[in-house]
Amino acid sequence: MKYSALKGVHDILPPDIYLWQKVESLAQEVFSLYGFQEIRLPIIESTDIFTRSIGETTDIVEKEMYTFPDRAGRSITLRPEGTASVVRAYVENHLYNLPSPQKFFYSGPMFRYERPQKGRFRQFYQIGIEAFGLAAPELDAEILSMLKVFLERLGVRGLNFKINSIGCEDCRPPFRMALVDFFSDKLNDLCPDCQRRYGYNPLRILDCKVERCIELRKGAPRVTDFLCEECRSHFASVLSSLRILDIPHEASPTLIRGLDYYTRTTFEVESEQLGSQKAVAAGGRYDRLVEEFGGPKTPAIGFAIGMERLTTLLKESGGILTPSPDIFIATIGKGAITEGALIAERLRAKDLWTEVGYDGSSLKSQLRKADRLASRFAFIIGDDEISTGKIKWKNLRDGSHGEADMSGLEDFVSSHLFDAKTR
Ligand code: HAM
Repeated sequence: MKYSALKGVHDILPPDIYLWQKVESLAQEVFSLYGFQEIRLPIIESTDIFTRSIGETTDIVEKEMYTFPDRAGRSITLRPEGTASVVRAYVENHLYNLPSPQKFFYSGPMFRYERPQKGRFRQFYQIGIEAFGLAAPELDAEILSMLKVFLERLGVRGLNFKINSIGCEDCRPPFRMALVDFFSDKLNDLCPDCQRRYGYNPLRILDCKVERCIELRKGAPRVTDFLCEECRSHFASVLSSLRILDIPHEASPTLIRGLDYYTRTTFEVESEQLGSQKAVAAGGRYDRLVEEFGGPKTPAIGFAIGMERLTTLLKESGGILTPSPDIFIATIGKGAITEGALIAERLRAKDLWTEVGYDGSSLKSQLRKADRLASRFAFIIGDDEISTGKIKWKNLRDGSHGEADMSGLEDFVSSHLFDAKTR
């Protein structure tokens, strides 16, 4: 019987994993400079957390959630995204009582039953951030700046920051009416989902992926023409802060995100290198969600980065630096294997990655293996070395070689082979 991974899910193996680790540790480094702290949240939640926040008429909730009853019959969902869980945790743990703003980052797998294709998976990974308690437009610009700094430090180039404002609950009703009006004579040509959405959430038609609907919405009213005074001024300040911080961006009035919780600022960061699934990161404000989850009125904003898409870009731009052993100890004979094991432990205690040839193969074949692993040094121990107390070493990069006393080996290794310069 041969098993394979489920459709749309994937293993992350070496050497790719080194890119993932680099991204994760740099995220932690950069995000901490802006005051974000890590939180770890469950992968399963009550289904209504997502239906309530993402929205009943969104593609995610209607078609893509992995939802199942648990053994007690409760409806459970594998999280399709992180924001809803962070808001749930923020309210449940009364984090609004702590000084504002509270800023968090998280990473981990998300699950959406989408049609798998390049850049789109059913289990995919995000790194996300969420900031609570500050409505200032400067914060919107600051988190975009953080995203830019992070992506630049990783060496990703050629990104396009698209930004829009989708207003608030005051601007929504007139915009909604204008949409209803615009689509009224096109209703029969819309896809069945959009015909249904027309009645209770016409905004969703603007996010539909069906070719016919994309065509029909050309010339549709733009949300930016319906912003109330406060939303208009917020958006203008965000754009001016972006200019001050020197963040190239493109105002994108048709950018309507696929989740219902957004208010005001929304954005996506795209790369043309990614093909049809271009968005490497996306996010926005959601100033009403904390209140909807039973907390106090609390403005909030965040984004999430798609790890698969980001690591694809990194692989294309610079490849992967794979770590390799510092030392390979080739052994000749049983006694040497035991001695090799002991020496290896002493070297590892000095933070050196050490491998031992345990398989009893010829010296030649062990040295070939050391080469294949790209080890920096090979050490050789046999009966002669054990009786003289000397070990042979060879630098596999420049061919230099010599002998060292087994007793003070650690000192010799750190002063002669791995001095500060070569480490
Ligand atoms: P989202 O746009 O649904 O937003 O996802 C954010 C990013 O996750 C996308 O830009 C993409 O890079 C990646 N992504 C989404 N779906 C898939 C998939 N099926 N396969 C691979 N990558 C995918 C959110 O999830 C919001 N929670 C972001 C946010 C945080 N807004 C406010 N705070």
